[in-house]
Amino acid sequence: MTIESVDVGDVKLSVRVEGSGAPLLLVHGFPLDHTMWNQQIRAWKESFLVIAPDLRGFGRSQTIGKGRLSMTRFADDLAVLLDQLKVDVPVVFCGLSMGGYIAWEFWQRHRRKISELVLCDTRAAADADVVRHGRYEMANRVLNEGVAFLVDGMVEKLFAESTRRQCSDIVTKMADVMRRTSPIAVAAALHGMAERLDMTDQLRNIDVPVRVICGAEDVLTSPAEMQAMASLFPIASFHLIPDAGHMAPLENPTAVNRVLSESTNTTP
Ligand code: MLT
Repeated sequence: MTIESVDVGDVKLSVRVEGSGAPLLLVHGFPLDHTMWNQQIRAWKESFLVIAPDLRGFGRSQTIGKGRLSMTRFADDLAVLLDQLKVDVPVVFCGLSMGGYIAWEFWQRHRRKISELVLCDTRAAADADVVRHGRYEMANRVLNEGVAFLVDGMVEKLFAESTRRQCSDIVTKMADVMRRTSPIAVAAALHGMAERLDMTDQLRNIDVPVRVICGAEDVLTSPAEMQAMASLFPIASFHLIPDAGHMAPLENPTAVNRVLSESTNTTP
């Protein structure tokens, strides 16, 4: 396993780089790190140059000061990261949830770096007012109390009931990742997500192939919402993943990896 520490300007990002071939960039969700993609990294390093960073403030990447971590900031970090790794061909950009919010900004600002999008359990719409205010309240609470209180509630929302019952190891691992995350980064990303723009009207301009993946039991970004979103891209397909909630790549890696193989005509 190769973990590199890459300077993207004011911080160093920790990034797992494996394999060789066309580049596949795996962008994790909130409040997690690159290890949520372990099953994809294992399957795809034979066929791809797999690049799985920890976003600024998360995992082993350097932490940040208080404030807001915008989706734009994350997107620009990833563009610099690719330059630093000397990746000079467009990547398959695969993002989950917050990773998808970052994909919209990456498309707006660095579209020549994208050959294809894989969007897992995410949405293009901005937050409703009630959700936005909930994020601000949660950010304040995290700064005052730490992240521990978040974990149980998040676990319930991220994973399907069947995963929580049958695959306690992956649930425990992700809960541990959350517990280790800095309250400052969690609060800053909550502000960043609250203030992200509605990208729904932009989807018709995304002219690369798009795979939309959704866990059948996702309670955060529902299959109905994601299927409606998929219909707005010029070239897209929608894939419902059985036995999975919001963390589909982790909960049913076989089915998600099959979608990735369809997307690339490569067999893992
Ligand atoms: C995620 O999985 O990244 C989060 O659920 C995103 C969000 O809170 O909107």
